[in-house]
Amino acid sequence: MKIPNMLDAKKRNKNEVKYTEYNVDFNNFGENKKFYVRTYGCQMNEHDSEKIKGMLSSVGFKSAEDINDADVIILNTCAIRENAHDKVFGFLGVLKHMKQSNKNLIIGLCGCMAQEEVVIKEILDKYKQIDFVVGTHNLDNLLKVLKEKIDTNNRQIEVLSYEGDVVENVPVVRDSKYSAWVDIIYGCDKFCTYCIVPYTRGTQRSRHHEDIINEVKQLVKDGYKEVTLLGQNVNAYGKDIYDNYTLANLLKDVAETGIERLRFVTSHPWDFTDEMVDVIAKYDNIMPYIHLPLQSGSNKILKLMNRRYTSEEYLKLYKQIREKVKDSSVTTDIIVGFPGETEEDFNETLKVVNECKFDGAFTFAYSPRENTPAALMKDAIPEEVKMDRLHRLNEIINKYSNEANKKMLNTIVKCLVISESEKDKNKVCGYTENMKLVNIVGDKSLIGKIVNVKITDTKSFSLDGEYVEEY
Ligand code: 5AD
Ligand code: SF4
Repeated sequence: MKIPNMLDAKKRNKNEVKYTEYNVDFNNFGENKKFYVRTYGCQMNEHDSEKIKGMLSSVGFKSAEDINDADVIILNTCAIRENAHDKVFGFLGVLKHMKQSNKNLIIGLCGCMAQEEVVIKEILDKYKQIDFVVGTHNLDNLLKVLKEKIDTNNRQIEVLSYEGDVVENVPVVRDSKYSAWVDIIYGCDKFCTYCIVPYTRGTQRSRHHEDIINEVKQLVKDGYKEVTLLGQNVNAYGKDIYDNYTLANLLKDVAETGIERLRFVTSHPWDFTDEMVDVIAKYDNIMPYIHLPLQSGSNKILKLMNRRYTSEEYLKLYKQIREKVKDSSVTTDIIVGFPGETEEDFNETLKVVNECKFDGAFTFAYSPRENTPAALMKDAIPEEVKMDRLHRLNEIINKYSNEANKKMLNTIVKCLVISESEKDKNKVCGYTENMKLVNIVGDKSLIGKIVNVKITDTKSFSLDGEYVEEY
């Protein structure tokens, strides 16, 4: 048994990072068995789940449509806020019942919660229904841990707390045939004081650009239309391994593979250079959509958060992006109720929001995370104040998303159609270049294509449109 340790998770020693190849060769021990993977959290987790599915499929497991048909259930978890925890612990109650009626059912837990010392202690203590735990750093060992569980019937807990490695060629079963996630950098060294990610995901470590480009070239050959480059902070790409190769170089090289649409998330304003903005502006196949977390508009709070920029610097970058990148949309993340946030600080945030008029925002009430510096800070904000601020912020955010969407009314835009519409079977849905979700009147044959769509109506969180053949 290996359990996580938060002090070790904090250490940073780049020399410890190893680049290796996936090297697991088992017989088909999953034959005649089914798996079900439930994913919580960010795109990085979504993509890790595709790797989990890839590894399981490589030894004969099949995917179960219905969780009740599964022999192995895996929860790929998120630790970013307390409510992410609550969802998982709540679901473990349901799984306990399932296990009572199916003694052979195997339940595994992976992802960021697996990296938390407190969570593992709680699991060891109270959640006997969990059969195995694999951390984020050794996800490539999933099959070994699962096989050990099956062979010995002993509970397996394998979580490492170190800087992490870069493992290439992990098998992957992608959820979409048209749009693919591609990791470019793992971990984070920013240590924003509220954030648990640097502890659960390890040090910032970039994949070699040749490996990324080869992966994208293969995706182009396989017919993918869109690639999204992933990292906790993609703008730090390359800093750990190259003297002279940054996200700007990578974007250019990936754009030149001929992929029709190229996206990237998430950006940290501190690492965003002029050169990066210029490359985004220059290439038509780099999509004009940037997610640029603000977190707070108050310089006092930004400093306490260790964000490394002021609101003035944020605004300068923001304006530069809006000016240079044609028809761009910009979304953001904002936390309210960080320790010490006064009404004045909150108003500073509103001021920046009123100036930026974001296309959209993910807004959060601050949630203390064990072992992060902010959890020890004085002047915690009462829950009802946080909720009141969140509510007031959301009203303004929605007003601006509505306004931004209204500007698109009656325009004809290009959409990548990704699936049938969930609500209406006569419609399909897709994304515009600037990442607006559109419900489109049109038939299923459009799925997987980039088509022209006329925007006929707009809402806060989506647009309505109709397919136009020619214009
Ligand atoms: N409390 C609330 N929100 C948080 N985020 C990260 N950590 C916390 C926390 N402890 C938010 C940030 C980040 C997004 C992914 O989640 O806004 O950008
Ligand atoms: Fe967390 Fe900050 Fe790193 Fe983003 S940049 S993952 S908020 S520590």
